[in-house]
Amino acid sequence: MRLLVTGGCGFIGSNYIHHVLEADSGVRVVNLDNLTYAGNLENLEGVQSRFGDRYAFVKGDIADADGVARLFEEHRFDAVVNFAAESHVDRSILDSSIFIRTNVAGTHTLLEMFRRFGGWRFVQVSTDEVYGSLGAEGRFTESTPLDPKSPYSASKAAADFLVRAYVNTHGTPAVITRCSNNYGPFQFPEKLIPLMITNVLNDLELPVYGDGLNVRDWIYVTDHCEAVDRVLREGSPGEVYNIGGDTELTNIQLVHSLVEEVCRQMGTDFEKKKSLIRFVSDRPGHDRRYAIDFSKLRSRMGWIPKHTFKQGLRKTVAWYLDHAPWWQRIRTGAYREYYRNMYGTRARIASPGDTPPGPSERMR
Ligand code: NAD
Ligand code: DAU
Repeated sequence: MRLLVTGGCGFIGSNYIHHVLEADSGVRVVNLDNLTYAGNLENLEGVQSRFGDRYAFVKGDIADADGVARLFEEHRFDAVVNFAAESHVDRSILDSSIFIRTNVAGTHTLLEMFRRFGGWRFVQVSTDEVYGSLGAEGRFTESTPLDPKSPYSASKAAADFLVRAYVNTHGTPAVITRCSNNYGPFQFPEKLIPLMITNVLNDLELPVYGDGLNVRDWIYVTDHCEAVDRVLREGSPGEVYNIGGDTELTNIQLVHSLVEEVCRQMGTDFEKKKSLIRFVSDRPGHDRRYAIDFSKLRSRMGWIPKHTFKQGLRKTVAWYLDHAPWWQRIRTGAYREYYRNMYGTRARIASPGDTPPGPSERMR
């Protein structure tokens, strides 16, 4: 299979390329990535020498129609897996224009070239955030109406609608996956888990937004990658597949578990590190709760996540401890200015969540 993977130098895309090259010797991957702040060639170190001409990297923008056309012309892809995106909600609040260009116009360009040159399957990697926010009860299913709340999720929902329109109008054999919050190796330290791990290791404050009671469902990244690959091979055109980790946690529960795990692996004092937690002013429009029903994927393909949160967190903390140069290089670059802008002006707030949760609220 000649496979175009976009955004393969990012967190999930790089994990997916490692996975697919390892799992299927019949796959040849072209990785199209324009190396934004989130794209990092180090994430694919060794891949070229290990897999030789089964892997090629092309620096380019998915929204550049001429460049993408040349690539399709040259490689005649059987399938596309579109990971490329601007992916951070907080950045979309500061400035959403690049989100519209990459996530909407970029997806449109890929769909258009796929239509023009043909191919067997197009996988759009979407997100559970397109469904909006839940109250205390219920879970998102594939038929939950789209109700995105942030500029990021609105741009991803717009892309989903484009995919749906291409399926309906042009018969494009596309599928959409909608996954919950990923964590694991190679995640850029602007996202909650790697930000908290690297802050604890640096003895920096741990900024928890609002009351810390927003809920996310967490999935270890390789479980997501395996699910995407199953959908690529076994999914039916026009269908949507939810992917989740069966791990709903409030942010404060998660941060406590994470600090505990770092202290366990480092042999440092939990109470001391826990005192770094700060409740800070909330993310504007912060979605309260996500929870995902992935029974469709389970019943159609027999897929379930392999990692419990405890196993995934253990591996993730160990990876960040073993790969300090990887995240230190990031944190000492342009990230410093981002961090100052994002967190320098956030006020510390008093909130009911200020009381640390008891042991029962910690990791299961
Ligand atoms: P990421 O920000 O780590 O990586 C994005 C990659 O896309 C980077 O390598 C970047 O250089 C590349 N890219 C950005 N704009 C591009 C462009 N115009 N042309 C080519 N490449 C471009 O993102 P991630 O967390 O790995 O997310 C990957 C995909 O999965 C995204 O589509 C995201 O919406 C989706 N998703 C993410 C999560 C999550 O928890 N991280 C959950 C569900 C879905
Ligand atoms: O649900 C899938 C989505 O998960 C993906 O589509 C996005 O690409 C991905 O970034 C992620 O979005 P979130 O906004 O949920 O992830 P983030 O890591 O930014 O935040 C997770 C939760 O933690 C959220 O409730 C906000 C909170 N948070 C985040 C940061 C960065 C904090 O309390 N403090 C922080 O410093």
